[in-house]
Amino acid sequence: MKHVLSSDQYTKESLKEIFDLTDKIKNNPKKYANKLDDKIIAIMFYEPSTRTRLSFETAALKLGAKIITTENAGEFSSAAKGETIQDTVKVIAGYADAMVIRHKSDTSAIEAASVQKIPILNAGAGKGEHPTQALLDLYTIRSKKGRLDNLKVAILGDLLYGRTIHSLIKLLSLYENIEIYGLSKEVFALPQEYIDMLESKGVKYTKCNSFDELPKDLDIIYHTRIQAERFEGDYGKEEFIINKEVLDTFSKDTILLHPLPRVIEIATDVDDDPRACYFEQAHNGLFVRMALLLQVLDRA
Ligand code: CP
Repeated sequence: MKHVLSSDQYTKESLKEIFDLTDKIKNNPKKYANKLDDKIIAIMFYEPSTRTRLSFETAALKLGAKIITTENAGEFSSAAKGETIQDTVKVIAGYADAMVIRHKSDTSAIEAASVQKIPILNAGAGKGEHPTQALLDLYTIRSKKGRLDNLKVAILGDLLYGRTIHSLIKLLSLYENIEIYGLSKEVFALPQEYIDMLESKGVKYTKCNSFDELPKDLDIIYHTRIQAERFEGDYGKEEFIINKEVLDTFSKDTILLHPLPRVIEIATDVDDDPRACYFEQAHNGLFVRMALLLQVLDRA
């Protein structure tokens, strides 16, 4: 059974398949309009979402599938009465052909998939992974830069709790000659296990303390929001804010990405800069998620 659980499951070849299919869907969506017209997709979100939930729902609808959904599953599903994820999946498998899940637990998607009844798509699992976001991030990088090798990438913001960061750097580590620069408040630094993972794959990781320490010829700046919902206490606000003045210190070819939602870390004065690609990135999520639904349901 095919699932989308972690960036760990992908190779360069399997990523190329997803991105080539995504290109085909984007260029000719009508061809795919009825591919899933006999399918029902369950969308179970135990945490808030705008992009991931609505793009998965739109992706399913554009493929002809029907959806069953609960937007606040922690409160409105029987999880509130103590039902386990596994029992929930065993029941939903009687209604739907695949299930998309977002949950506060790092192991939620793996637990759901362990039932092996229907394909599970991880739409964000605690501070662990958000693989479909990483896939759309990488697809956007491929579209904008024309390559996935030979990239200098800065990751900013919450490198500790940022699951999009964790999933993205795993995918980047598959490619040749990748350099990653981390810039965050010390309290949100990238955990050592991820630095070790990068080094084991030959990726050079450089921890930076200021914008001045980042190379000016970066290919990508990937900023993220401090995930305040994942920790107790107050560690203050983001210090490394990208506004027009900061962005203009980098190359005209440096693209700026963010999984969104943003809070203060990217000022709105850069939104109209051609290097600001985060809204296009979010839109790409629709097509990547269409490709993923087709793949897990063997209709690619
Ligand atoms: N990027 C992302 O996961 O956004 P949502 O929380 O709005 O789904």
